[in-house]
Amino acid sequence: MANATVTPTRPYGLGVLPKLAANPPEFFLETLKERGNLVEINLGGSKLLLVHHPDYVKHVMTDHAKHYGKGSMWVAIRKMVGNGLLGSEGEIWLRQRRLMQPAFHRQKLAGFANSMTATIAEMLDQWATLAKADKSVDVTRAMADLTMQIIVRTMFGSGLELNEMQEIGDAFATALKLMNTRMWTSFLPISIPLPGDRAFKEAIEKVDRFVYRLIAERRHNPNASDDLLTMLLDIRDEETGEGMSDQQVRDEVFTVFLAGHETTATVMAWVWYLLEKYPEVERKLHAELDTVLAGKLPALATLPRLKYTKMVIEETMRYYPPSWMIPRSTEIDDVIGGLPVKKGTTVLISPYVVHRHPDFWENPDQFDPERFDPDKVVPRSAYIPFGSGPRLCIGNSFATMEMQLILAMTAQAFRLRLLPGIKIKPTTMPTLRPNKALQMTLETRTKPVSSATWQIATETGEYAVVPSDTTTGERG
Ligand code: HEM
Repeated sequence: MANATVTPTRPYGLGVLPKLAANPPEFFLETLKERGNLVEINLGGSKLLLVHHPDYVKHVMTDHAKHYGKGSMWVAIRKMVGNGLLGSEGEIWLRQRRLMQPAFHRQKLAGFANSMTATIAEMLDQWATLAKADKSVDVTRAMADLTMQIIVRTMFGSGLELNEMQEIGDAFATALKLMNTRMWTSFLPISIPLPGDRAFKEAIEKVDRFVYRLIAERRHNPNASDDLLTMLLDIRDEETGEGMSDQQVRDEVFTVFLAGHETTATVMAWVWYLLEKYPEVERKLHAELDTVLAGKLPALATLPRLKYTKMVIEETMRYYPPSWMIPRSTEIDDVIGGLPVKKGTTVLISPYVVHRHPDFWENPDQFDPERFDPDKVVPRSAYIPFGSGPRLCIGNSFATMEMQLILAMTAQAFRLRLLPGIKIKPTTMPTLRPNKALQMTLETRTKPVSSATWQIATETGEYAVVPSDTTTGERG
């Protein structure tokens, strides 16, 4: 590991704001190259501290986590998720984290695989029709719809009509846009109106109507499903015996929607983009899928054998981490790597920079899944797509399993190619995502298993394993 001692360099001034605004992740990376592992930006009244070295990241996110709150940049997020897990702090956070953890236990996750696979099969059904008609697909949108459908089904036991799902997805996208603006203008009081406030409010109201409907239906029919929503409604305070109010349940449901669909969708969008750019990676992936799956659907038990599939996902999250920046604020006067840090300073950790730190990654700008070969040593402390410490993403195993299934099933069935003339670069909205819709053509590799056939397989009690005769899903 590189030496973590640092000589703090002179701070940047307000003059860097245009560069920062133009391309925040690249600007952050430049600061590492120009000024090193701890970089200060003076913004007149307030200061930003960029923390680039994994040892200092550990200091903030793990070793001294209790002294680092979420800070003013999270005020905007709280406008969406209230006191839900993502934005809450202290006792409320600890209580909610303990309550929600069981919904993400390994055993629970095993049960979700079935529902994920069925949802992916439905999407591939539609894609097969589009492929036959030589129609292209907006893959960014398709991945957002798919991950939204998966989260709604697995966490809240409900199905959604496509138009309803797209409406909710659009409402989220609108709200996220304003949240991004608010994050970067967090030095302004929240009471100062900004363009887009009204659209934000309307978007939140739209999602709220849906969430409160889900809650009301479940309160009316409490035994409908053994999922996160039921768990949230069953929770009782040990002392008072009181359950969570609709508002509290709403905040958690909203949190899981927000944290659990856009991130995963973004990684998957990048995967399709990168596979086309790196044909050798695509070839290896196809070889693994064709050998391990041999025309069948992936089962939970197959996932450990889909090693390269997982490596592609891990490398995509290194290359383009959706949560490219994680803000914190010190609640005490502290010292990081010899640099005194005043109480109230906003500390920014960027997985994008840490993942391209040249002291830890060889040829960091090269997309190379081989880095994550289980036989090689990965610099784990310099790999933080899901954050680290006590606030580590609660959904990380859920997301990894979901992405492995999406990639395996989709790449087995189709090769995706971007329409000519579309130039893509990353943008922050606030996740690190492609700046344009990935409009892609579908080249059929093998016939996807139809979701009707899939139903037959699951109803007969099969667990995501399709028997090897043609009536139950064997691919021709
Ligand atoms: C590729 C997919 C995902 C990525 C990259 C990701 C990334 C992250 C990161 C970086 C954090 C830490 C934020 C911080 O420290 O301030 C986080 C927290 C969180 N994530 Fe994820 N996430 C993903 C998927 C999911 C999924 C699928 C769910 C739920 C089903 C989820 C739910 C949450 C929640 C509830 C938190 C807050 C945890 C806490 O503060 O205790 N995430 N995520």
